[in-house]
Formats: sequence, C-alpha cells, structure tokens
Amino acid sequence: MMKNTPYPQGVDTPITSSAIFMVATLSSGEEAAQAVRSWCADIAGLVRAVGKRVPDGNLSCVCGFSFNAWGILFGSTRPASLHTFREFGVEGRKAIATPGDILLHLRADRMDLCFELATQLLAPLGDAVQVVDEVHGFRNFDMRSMVGFVDGTENPVGNKAVEATIVGDEDPTFAGGSYVIVQKYLHDMNAWNRLTVEQQELVIGRKKLSDIELDDSVKPSNSHSALTVIEKDGKEVKILRDNMPFGRPGSNEFGTYFIGYARSPEPLEQMLENMFVGRPVGHYDRLLDFSKAVSGTLFFVPSSDFLEALGD
Ligand code: HEM
Repeated sequence: MMKNTPYPQGVDTPITSSAIFMVATLSSGEEAAQAVRSWCADIAGLVRAVGKRVPDGNLSCVCGFSFNAWGILFGSTRPASLHTFREFGVEGRKAIATPGDILLHLRADRMDLCFELATQLLAPLGDAVQVVDEVHGFRNFDMRSMVGFVDGTENPVGNKAVEATIVGDEDPTFAGGSYVIVQKYLHDMNAWNRLTVEQQELVIGRKKLSDIELDDSVKPSNSHSALTVIEKDGKEVKILRDNMPFGRPGSNEFGTYFIGYARSPEPLEQMLENMFVGRPVGHYDRLLDFSKAVSGTLFFVPSSDFLEALGD
C-alpha cells in the first residue's frame, strides 16, 4: 500500500463461523440517495455498538456499491475499474448478472451478532433500499464447502492478502478500496454424491480428506483449482475468498455463496472466464456440471475513511 493510504474496510478480516450476505437495490429519487449517503457514515458506529457487546465475537461489516449506485450516490468520478458485472459462459452454464446496488457482507463468530447488525443497519434505511437477496451462511466442519472439500486453503494471508485486495497507486483517488464479486451457487448434491471420492477429487484438484493438492501429473487441467490459478506477467495473481455454505435441506437447497475480493475486477473475471468458458474454450470447470450460478454482481468497496467522510 501507498504511504497514508486511507484505511480499508474489514476486507481482510479473520475467517469467522457465520456470515450474512445482503444485496439491495437503491430506490429512485434524491431522498433515497441522501438517506443512503448519511447512513454510510453511521455504519462504523453501528458495528462498534453491536460488536462491543461480544468482545471476542469478531464482528465486521464490508459495504460495497455497484457501478449504477456509485453514479447516483457519489457522482461521476468512479473507481477506475468499476463496471457492471460481466457475464461469462453459454446458456445452461452461465455466470449471470443479477440486480444489486449495495452489498453488505457481515461476518462474526456468532450468528446473533450478524443478525443484530443486519437489523440495526437496515432500520435507518427504511424504503430507501429493497433487499433483493439475503443469505445466512455457516461454517461447515473443518472449513469444508457444501461439496465437502476444504475451501479457502490457497487464500493469501497477511501482507499478501492486502496486496491482492487493496487498491493502491494505480487509482490514488480510491486507494484503500477493493473490488468484490458475489455469486450464489446451488448444487445438485444427488448428482455430486453419485461420484466416487476419487472422481470428486479430479473435479476439485485436491484430496478430499487431507486437502492436499493433487500432483500435477494427475490433476486435470479442467479441475476447479487448475482453472482458477492465473498469471499476469509471469506472476500468479491471487484473490481473497470467504465462501460460505448455506441451504435448507427440507427444500433440497444446498448452496455456496461465493465472495471474492481483489484490487481489480480483472483476476476475478479471468477466473470466471476460465471456469465458465474454459481454458481453452470448451475445457470448462467440471464443478459447474454440479453447480449453477443463480446470481452475480460486482461492487466497489470504498475505504472506511471514504464512508466516514460522508457524514461531514
Ligand atoms: C461453486 C462454487 C465454488 C466452490 C464450491 C468452490 C470451492 C473451492 C475449493 C474446495 C477450492 C480448493 C481449496 C482452496 O484453495 O480454497 C477452491 C479453490 C479456489 N477457488 Fe473456488 N469454489 C467455487 C467458486 C469459485 C469461483 C467463482 C472462483 C473465482 C471467480 C473461485 C476461485 C478459486 C481460487 C482462486 C481457488 C484457489 C486455487 C489455487 O490457488 O489452487 N472459486 N474453490
């Protein structure tokens, strides 16, 4: 990061056991926009008030804005790489774009903290926004995704996480910010569970029990972990993920809420292209034979200094 970089929101917070993901659209009119702008400055105070009651609960909140919302709320000077979500893939296997102007990513080690914060954050907004999607995610056994494999292993940590996610000199006006893509996936668990463990391991590219990466000699080039490893100028480019399983067994709903942060949308989009279109074209991610993306939106997460300044 640059010297004096504005303080980021809690993008790189420790992994927690609960999360709420909320996507909302902004109502039309200046009154709604004004309500959201003044609310932005109050977010940090609400997180402090709710979080203080459980000191070791690790409560955090990240708030992001879509391309459309940015123009309405904050004017035409936008973060350099902010645009609407780009779709990838073909009918039947598509990363679709869905509506969403504001993202709230609430994390804590107890669902009651996330729930209370969501309640307190929404109350002052009234009908200035409409929540179009809300997912309550839980941490599953030893960090296992809904498909039973440990998720998050190759995430960058420490300085490397900051370097991968926080905007710096490349866009000085919006330094301290971050880009984030969310996608809600539903899995066909019956079909997935019909595969043997060995077949599943070839889909993911890692061992199921031990989480150890398959040797390059056996790891298929269309496995999930092969297609999501990307390079730029000979150097691997990482993103930061904090996916959460969610679902309702009684309704046969088994899902993964994908959330990926990066300092530019580019690596996220490259990964989506590799997964949905294929690398090379047609050589797509086998995980998508068992998983369908039912939402997709790109947001910019401004620095927390940017949000607090809106109260001045
Ligand atoms: C159906 C939803 C998804 C599931 C269940 C899933 C699950 C997993 C699992 C189990 C791993 C291996 C362990 C790890 O390193 O974390 C993994 C790795 C990874 N996934 Fe996903 N993932 C999903 C969607 C995505 C999407 C949409 C992206 C990017 C746009 C992505 C990017 C990555 C990356 C970058 C890695 C690490 C690759 C490496 O460095 O080896 N994943 N994912």
